[in-house]
Amino acid sequence: MEKLRRHALDLRNFDLRGAFNHDPQRAEKLSLSFGDWRIDFSRQKINDETLALLREYAEKTDLPRWVAALFSGETLNHTEKRAALHTALRQQEEGASFARREILRDVRGAQQAMKTLSERLRCGALLGASGKPVKTVVNLGIGGSSLGPQLVCDALLRADDFDVRFVSNLDAEDLERALLGLDRETTLLIVASKTFKTEETLTNARAALDWLQADGGNKQELLNRHFVAVTASDEAAKAFGIAPENILPLWDWVGGRYSLWSAVGITIAIQSGWQTFVDLLAGAAAMDKHFHETPIAHNAPIMLALIDWWNTCFAQIGERIVVPYAFGLRLLPAYLQQLLMESNGKRIDWDGNDLHKTAGARSAVSVWGGIGTDSQHAFFQWLHQGSHRANIEFIVPTRYRGQSQRVGLLAHALAQPQALMCGHDCDFEIDTANATDEDIARAARVCPGNRASTMLLLPDLNAWHLGALLALYEHRAFIEGVLYRVNPFDQFGVELGKALACPLHNALERNTTLADADAVTQAQLLYVQRFRK
Ligand code: F6P
Repeated sequence: MEKLRRHALDLRNFDLRGAFNHDPQRAEKLSLSFGDWRIDFSRQKINDETLALLREYAEKTDLPRWVAALFSGETLNHTEKRAALHTALRQQEEGASFARREILRDVRGAQQAMKTLSERLRCGALLGASGKPVKTVVNLGIGGSSLGPQLVCDALLRADDFDVRFVSNLDAEDLERALLGLDRETTLLIVASKTFKTEETLTNARAALDWLQADGGNKQELLNRHFVAVTASDEAAKAFGIAPENILPLWDWVGGRYSLWSAVGITIAIQSGWQTFVDLLAGAAAMDKHFHETPIAHNAPIMLALIDWWNTCFAQIGERIVVPYAFGLRLLPAYLQQLLMESNGKRIDWDGNDLHKTAGARSAVSVWGGIGTDSQHAFFQWLHQGSHRANIEFIVPTRYRGQSQRVGLLAHALAQPQALMCGHDCDFEIDTANATDEDIARAARVCPGNRASTMLLLPDLNAWHLGALLALYEHRAFIEGVLYRVNPFDQFGVELGKALACPLHNALERNTTLADADAVTQAQLLYVQRFRK
């Protein structure tokens, strides 16, 4: 660590343009490949020595052993005493050594049930209570039980796909909009909830049942014919009234934000077909293999995680921004916010140390972003001329499901990182004491450049490449967690707000006060009670 800290001081005035002038091989040396992908981090503020030091640190912290531990199912989620075996969900070869056999048997059983259900739906063989074929599926779930499948469905949507919708929010508007124009007789609800306890999902499931019953009908018959659950808690799903044969399994060793590869991804198979889901798994499995078997220097998830960690902890680059140049990836930033921030937004390390009190230690930075070119007309101004230090990641598929992307889009994708590095009129220095109006106008146009970015160039965006991309981010998040020395698989921070909402919910329902709440909350409660009426 000390070596890295000293090196960061040496690089504090790192000049990207100078680095390229000084080393014509830089673009090739500071990039990696994964199949036909080009993963280019040559515009990061690092040099050969940084990479050597990061690799040395990776060896010292035994990163390869951590990778092996993930695949072998060690109890990496130590605070909840669980393995994190999401890679078993996309494992390709039977009997491969890195996941337990009984787990694979369960996975194959669940996949068979998913295949059957999705194929029956797609060919019109699944009938609702009145005997009409189901035509629309509405997924009720939140967080990991929504973000991943919704992103994939959105990215791979075709005109003639099965109609699949997603509802996550507690605001009734979300469900109402999703149900707008739908026929009660031909709608299937999928309640996706690992715990089957989540307030948003259960509230929406109850409201959806009320909607189904609005024209009358036998409640249990409606539940049997129009409800499917995906859960690790089948008792709770049965208690809700869902038929046991309509419950798809999930297991403790699949974290919520890693669950799109499980039966939580059933909506992907329903919308786009079973083969698409298989291709998605195959892409993720290819990234797993790369991550598992490739030496550190060529290992994309490890190298990218090391650079992210370098930026956060040493280069003091406190913003991480993701910009896909593909409309199909418009939901990627929201998905990554859960994956990266729920995983590594932690303050206590494995030994119980408070990261904020340990000299130099940091937790992961926030992640946000938006698609190009829309975001060029929104936050890119801030990137080019604002004074924050940001690390921007461009994701550029050159084709979209086999079709070439518009040249205009690709041109912008290539131009932005170039502009961020090269800047405009960077050497102009204004003498404010004697500045003319022209000088001030010129100064306002200066783009200082020297902004760090990474570019992921993909040959295509289809199910396979999307699977590999999402697995890349999962493994990066895991390795970053190891580097921060936190458990990336728990999420206790989200519990406090949920607990505090309970007494407030009761107070709002009964129109009572809440004596033991703080003064601000009491005042806000009174306000809400007054205007809600
Ligand atoms: O927000 C916390 C969280 O537990 C996520 O990790 C999870 O993806 C989401 O809630 C939904 O949980 P469940 O699938 O149990 O409804």
